[in-house]
Amino acid sequence: MTAHAGEDRASFHAMSAGSADDWARILAAVRDFNDRFPDRLIAHLQLLQGDHGGFAVDRLEHSLQTASRALRDGRDDEYVACALIHDIGDVLGPAHHAEVGAVLMRPFISERNFWMMQQHAVFQGYYYFHLIGGDRNARDRFRGHPDFEYTAQFCELYDQRSFDPAYDTLPLDAFEPILRRVLAAPKHADFAHELNASGPVADAQ
Ligand SMILES: [Fe+2]
Ligand SMILES: [Fe+2]
Repeated sequence: MTAHAGEDRASFHAMSAGSADDWARILAAVRDFNDRFPDRLIAHLQLLQGDHGGFAVDRLEHSLQTASRALRDGRDDEYVACALIHDIGDVLGPAHHAEVGAVLMRPFISERNFWMMQQHAVFQGYYYFHLIGGDRNARDRFRGHPDFEYTAQFCELYDQRSFDPAYDTLPLDAFEPILRRVLAAPKHADFAHELNASGPVADAQ
């Protein structure tokens, strides 16, 4: 196998042999890679286009419509970004799509919005689980959680009603600046190493 030694690459072949110079090179490359994360996330979101999954609108339009409703309702950038991304996991993790989207956004959002994204699927079930042989009240196992009503409200106001082809859904372009602002401001110091601390790490919320 070819050795990839060079000015912009680490010289070690096992981490145990790494030096500070090696890691300076790696961090420079990682910083550049991480700076393009918003582009990759937006490209991935666009994979939802054209797949209607039996609904009246495709998954991208549903996502845009959910975010459009949240934006027009006066929600802040972070909430709108969560609304936009909440179903991005449909492509890579259909059996646990809510968790996939939540994990992708976790470094950039509050614990409350993380929980909302992570649990939205069972709350959305209130509107259809009983129609497919399930229990529409499955969300009740979370009764008493401080973010129960917050998450129920997300589904009621935005998610469950965003399958309307006649709604004036905003285009993806309208949300890119919002999403980029949110992704430029990681909130949790725990993720600083992974994100190479390329930007300011705000107080955790
Ligand atoms: Fe969902
Ligand atoms: Fe959804």
